[in-house]
Amino acid sequence: MVDKKDSPRNVETTGHSWDGIEEYNNPLPRWWLWTFYATIVWGLIYAILYPALPLVKGATGGVLGWSQRADVAAQIDAVTASHAELRAALVETDLRVLAENEALHRYAVQAGAALFRNNCSQCHGSGAAGAVGYPNLLDDDWLWGGRIEDIALTVRHGIRNEEDPDARFSQMPAFGDLLERAEIATLVAHVQALPNGVAPLGGEGGTLFGDNCASCHGDDGLGNRDLGAPNLTDAIWLYASDDQSLTRLISDGPYGVMPPWGDRLGEPGVRALSAYVHQLGGGEGETDTSIEEAPVATDAAPEDGAQE
Ligand code: HEC
Ligand code: HEC
Repeated sequence: MVDKKDSPRNVETTGHSWDGIEEYNNPLPRWWLWTFYATIVWGLIYAILYPALPLVKGATGGVLGWSQRADVAAQIDAVTASHAELRAALVETDLRVLAENEALHRYAVQAGAALFRNNCSQCHGSGAAGAVGYPNLLDDDWLWGGRIEDIALTVRHGIRNEEDPDARFSQMPAFGDLLERAEIATLVAHVQALPNGVAPLGGEGGTLFGDNCASCHGDDGLGNRDLGAPNLTDAIWLYASDDQSLTRLISDGPYGVMPPWGDRLGEPGVRALSAYVHQLGGGEGETDTSIEEAPVATDAAPEDGAQE
């Protein structure tokens, strides 16, 4: 700070003085003043052109009629319009040959991935690897079929739900009422041994299996996709394979429920999801075994990893 004794005396002061400290009345720097006037002019022009002055309901509109909300709405409209064509094309395309249309397939998979995150991941996991009772959608082990149109049917109508009369349906009986405890214990051990190569119809367990289980799970234990009956010879468990869990499952009967999505997400959504799930790793081609009639041979599927 400038010492009072050294300061020039010929400068006008404002007359204010605090404890002997006086205030000079220097003119404002010219550049500062002009900047100040410029901001006022700019503010006035802005207030005229754009929404600015607060009123009771909202603000003055501004002569340009610009609004951030209208801007966003226009952008959303533009995106929706650009997608409408793709969505229409998706509905018209035979799913079996969808992968041949690279651009449309890419759109479907991306849209399906977004829908999956919002609608499916709470049950099937964000990576689609599933959990106990919720099937893994990444592998080629399918309950109801892994061709793209099998997947679409599952997603459209769901499984064992009460909302959609076309839902996939089947019911494994509760064998607790039908078999002795000891017989169930024998079956538990038998089922646990199937993935190790034990013959499904062999031995005491095999007899019980043939009488009670093979009608759905097959004489070979490979399951039945018409019924959503799992393959019991692979080491892939939808539920758990320990003694206690299997005893409970065979006694009570499992009843996995999946909601229908056709009404909620619309046909484009269902198809996008089917394309997404189909390309996750286990999607099957048209020539693979499946639950539906007339296979049409195409090389539409990205992968032909059929098993089960
Ligand atoms: C409320 C939980 C739940 C939600 C949400 C859900 N699922 Fe499922 N999903 C299931 C269950 C449970 C099963 C197995 C049913 C059974 O035991 O047959 C299943 C089975 C499937 C299958 C059949 C798998 C196979 O092996 O054949 C597919 C495909 C599938 N879900 C896809 C989806 C998609 C896509 C979505 C999102 C639109 C979705 N799921 C949302 C619970 C759910
Ligand atoms: C009427 C058809 C039917 C019969 C009969 C049947 N099952 Fe099932 N089983 C199913 C279906 C369908 C499922 C899948 C249910 C679900 O996903 O909720 C299933 C699931 C299972 C599972 C779970 C597999 C896994 O991956 O976790 C086991 C184990 C099983 N059954 C064993 C048996 C045994 C043992 C018998 C004979 C005592 C039997 N089932 C009889 C239809 C049947």
